Amino acid sequence: MDVINKLINGNREWVEDQLEIDKDYFQRLSQGQEPDSLWIGCADSRVPASEVTRTKPGEMFEHRNIANMVVHSDMNLLSVLDYAVNALRVKHVIVCGHYLCGGINAAMGNRQNGLVDNWIRHIKDVYRLYENELEAIEDKQQRFDRFVEVNVYEQVFDLSKTSIIQNAWAERNEPKIHGWVFDIRTGLIKDLNITFDNQTQLPSIYKIDSEVVMK
Ligand code: CO
Repeated sequence: MDVINKLINGNREWVEDQLEIDKDYFQRLSQGQEPDSLWIGCADSRVPASEVTRTKPGEMFEHRNIANMVVHSDMNLLSVLDYAVNALRVKHVIVCGHYLCGGINAAMGNRQNGLVDNWIRHIKDVYRLYENELEAIEDKQQRFDRFVEVNVYEQVFDLSKTSIIQNAWAERNEPKIHGWVFDIRTGLIKDLNITFDNQTQLPSIYKIDSEVVMK
């Protein structure tokens, strides 16, 4: 069976399974969504957000890109974030990186990879911020693992710098921004315990006033 048929047949079997459990399943799903959280993860096929967290359709809004980056000029990410925070009013935003991330690995090297190097440069900027700490780690695997972790931390921080998040904090003290790492070697998620949920955690240069001044 070719790849495409496998996908279509997989879908049909999934529909049959769902209907067997609950014949009104899709009718209810079509009523709307009320997800509690937004997942920002890597595009890597080994880290399917809903599968590794056992969440069902409708429970988690999702954005994925190479190395789970929060790039401030990325209209795709900003649109997903604005909709999740201001329309769906999610309570949690999770940045989930993963060990053995190809994007992070590429950022540690000097190989030319083509267009993606323009994306990977944002990850290299994180390396430069943590250069002393990372280069003090002699074991290459441990340094790679730590780079994955500090990159997640920086993306949590980058989310917290946005007006979208700071305005939501001012209005309703939510969402909480979490930093996690999925370990492909064990299947387990590690909470880095770097949760941001208010402006006081930010250096003053990044704090945004809650009033918009247009003049
Ligand atoms: Co990855």
